[in-house]
Amino acid sequence: MLENLAQQPADALLALIKLHNADPRSTKIDLGVGVYRTGQGDTPVFAAIKGAERKLVDTQDSKAYLGPEGDMGFVHALKPYIFGNAVDMSRLEGMQAPGGTGGVRLAIDLAKRAGVKRVWMGTPSWPNHAQIVAAVGLELKTFRHVTPEGTADLDALKAALTEATADDAVLLHGCCHNPSGVDYTPAQWDEIATLVAQAGVLPLLDLAYQGLGTGMEDDAYGVRKVLAAVPEAMIAYSCDKNFGLYRDRVGAFYAMTRDADGLPAVMSNGAAIARASWSMPPDHGAAAVRLVLEDASLTAQWLDELDTMRARMRQVRDKLAAAGRIGPIDMTPLGHQHGLFSMLPLSGEQILALREKHGVYMAGSGRINIAGLTAGNIDAFLAALADVAG
Ligand code: LMR
Repeated sequence: MLENLAQQPADALLALIKLHNADPRSTKIDLGVGVYRTGQGDTPVFAAIKGAERKLVDTQDSKAYLGPEGDMGFVHALKPYIFGNAVDMSRLEGMQAPGGTGGVRLAIDLAKRAGVKRVWMGTPSWPNHAQIVAAVGLELKTFRHVTPEGTADLDALKAALTEATADDAVLLHGCCHNPSGVDYTPAQWDEIATLVAQAGVLPLLDLAYQGLGTGMEDDAYGVRKVLAAVPEAMIAYSCDKNFGLYRDRVGAFYAMTRDADGLPAVMSNGAAIARASWSMPPDHGAAAVRLVLEDASLTAQWLDELDTMRARMRQVRDKLAAAGRIGPIDMTPLGHQHGLFSMLPLSGEQILALREKHGVYMAGSGRINIAGLTAGNIDAFLAALADVAG
């Protein structure tokens, strides 16, 4: 039986981690998978998380099962940061999920159970979005996310929503668009909220980078606007980046229903999907986040650490933008894009040459992780870029 299975290619993005690790060159530059790095190139555990973990070790008296919804203290502690006061909280509930991926998977599975047939999504997108939609067995419909001028393509989204039917969902990146770094502006979000409500489609908002764009509040603008305008919505949330908990798999899924009475049935379906998929989410990282958010000094420390990360990425973006033109590549848009990622218009051959000749590792889409650049390697990166593209 098992011989019926054909060999599958490794996930291209995750394969880069191994390729980079195996490269013996000390000058190699990792701009692949999305992890934050300090100016020294490290991805340390947040000091606030370390503090919470110490507390957890001292105070946690049991590791007995919690249930498919995980740590509800964690789920509720995040709510004010994500939703502010934009939503009637009696219509919104959540559950913990294994990372943002778990949150997206729960949302798409739940959408299918509810009768959604197609998912609309701007492309390019995080490659796993399409994989999850395919794994769940829904049809993917795409529209262009970025105009040739480098702005978010609102007209393409408008056209998609005109074509969409009541059986459809639309997946939108809340902030720090992955892979392009091109976000909808607040004015565009105002329009999107109205358009999504008029189209009657089910919005799925993926908020995986809150705090890494322009700030915790600003990065929630789109999510809050859409939620205030529509009767129902789903939200996938990740703490991978904004709490640095990547491998601990800390995320959440939230649903907003038409009225409070509809919420228990939706969440019971979420719990059933979780039970049959992973039974319960891993506890440790979510418990650490909860402890950070329950303690004012740890919260302040965490927000401070986030500010430092954002400021460093802004510096890198400014330096990249200041490079102006590198051959045909205009670097200036990178200065006003948001989050960990931006895309460079490079061919497959140029991306391979960057890796083989210069030890620069980046996704095959041309996506670079801005945080992989430091004062120590950015000039070498720009020179390598000039060599292959100039
Ligand atoms: C990325 O896009 O690099 C991250 O979101 C990591 C992942 O799971 O793909």
